[in-house]
Amino acid sequence: MYFEWKDAYEMGLEEVDKQHQKLFQIGRKLSVLIQTTDVLTDYENINNILDELKDYTLEHFSREEQFMKDHGYPDLASHAMEHGFLRKKLLRLDKMEQHNHKTIVRLVSFVSSWISEHILITDMKIRNYLLEVKPEVRD
Ligand SMILES: [Fe+2]
Repeated sequence: MYFEWKDAYEMGLEEVDKQHQKLFQIGRKLSVLIQTTDVLTDYENINNILDELKDYTLEHFSREEQFMKDHGYPDLASHAMEHGFLRKKLLRLDKMEQHNHKTIVRLVSFVSSWISEHILITDMKIRNYLLEVKPEVRD
């Protein structure tokens, strides 16, 4: 199963945590679907959720970048570059004409581990920074 939410992903920043949780909910829906149905039999449904995952990830990245800007986060540029890597990959999905089951599973697995790792390593640096510099922001 992919996109399994863990307490370790909680940053204690309500706004960001809520977005991450929503991202995992969408990813989880997709994960369940690809493990219970074949892409060929439920292609439209799977494609729709894949779109939803892509759109929400892009929206979340923009909002998180704005959040960092608003708080004067010093490592915004390198953080945004990491987002840029996945953003590019997700935007390329539109150009893929036909997915098969294997490529979708591979994609969901990749996005799931990329996001988990990104939260634990890169996003947590925002938390650590705010904890040191602006403790009042955390709830
Ligand atoms: Fe991030």
